[in-house]
Amino acid sequence: MIEPLQLAQKPTPIQCLDIPSIIPDVKIHIKRDDLTGLLSSGNKIRKLEYLLADAKNKKCDCIITAGPIQSNHIRTTMYVCATMGIKAVAVLAGKPPKTLEGNLLLDSLFGGELYFLDKEEYDKMKDGFIQELTIKFRKQGYKPYLIPTGGSNGIGALGYLAAMEEMAHYIKTSAVDAIFCAVGSGGTYAGLLMGKYLFGVEAPLYGILVDETIEYFQAKIKNIINESSTILEKKLAIDDNEIKLINGYIGEGYGIPYPEEIEVIKKLALKGIVLDPVYTGKAFYGMVKERARLDYHNPIFIHTGGIFSLFAYKESFC
Ligand SMILES: Cc1ncc(COP(=O)(O)O)c(C=O)c1O
Repeated sequence: MIEPLQLAQKPTPIQCLDIPSIIPDVKIHIKRDDLTGLLSSGNKIRKLEYLLADAKNKKCDCIITAGPIQSNHIRTTMYVCATMGIKAVAVLAGKPPKTLEGNLLLDSLFGGELYFLDKEEYDKMKDGFIQELTIKFRKQGYKPYLIPTGGSNGIGALGYLAAMEEMAHYIKTSAVDAIFCAVGSGGTYAGLLMGKYLFGVEAPLYGILVDETIEYFQAKIKNIINESSTILEKKLAIDDNEIKLINGYIGEGYGIPYPEEIEVIKKLALKGIVLDPVYTGKAFYGMVKERARLDYHNPIFIHTGGIFSLFAYKESFC
């Protein structure tokens, strides 16, 4: 088992509110994982508690990761590495923009070494490019540690297993009847599902996709659970039917917001809670729309953060 570093501000609060302008007659519980820290806000820091503990145990001194230009995972990784004095490298999907905004501005302030690959190049050659970087840094005397996109593997997911432990009592005693989160790289969902299984939480866990397909994530989430179960040395007999993924809220594609989503973000902001346009905005909108079908009465939404990418989407809010 990996002893996690203590990096996030935890436990995060759970807020319960009426939002009749968005969803009448239902109180929504919101797990405020957007409050895991200022510069470390969001879900990624919980995964990094385990991933960086593993890197430290293995005496690695150079973290290499990858993701989209406005990746919250990359910003959180660059931040933590800056505080720990570890070299941090990221491979980003897309051309370098003219101005640094949102997460990318922070990545650069934290001194991250950033490499940009055109979207097509990134899709085709990312893994090879990372391998070349690994060899290059080894030659320079570093011991690199690779973290996958979104920190989603069997180690990172343990952060969300722990998050479920943190809220299991609340969910049970408040009679929560449905749990919702965004699915971007699958680690958060996989961790929550393992926690649900291990801590006896009965409410169904729904993952709203913001990218890819249900088939893709069914396979990826199962894979992550298998990896975690090896690390935990525990058999996790989670039935495939327990993986409840919902498609239909991606819009035109990953990172492309749509008017109904922006409307929900604006309405929730009037209550002092800010969602992001890439992950939580789509997931929250999906949760609201699915009410008619799923007939839940007392849901909890896992607010996984993402505040900084909002500043790269200014035009969507004009
Ligand atoms: C703000 C935010 N919410 C949700 C997610 C989705 O989590 P996961 O990648 O673990 O599926 C991500 C990252 O992908 C994220 O940055």
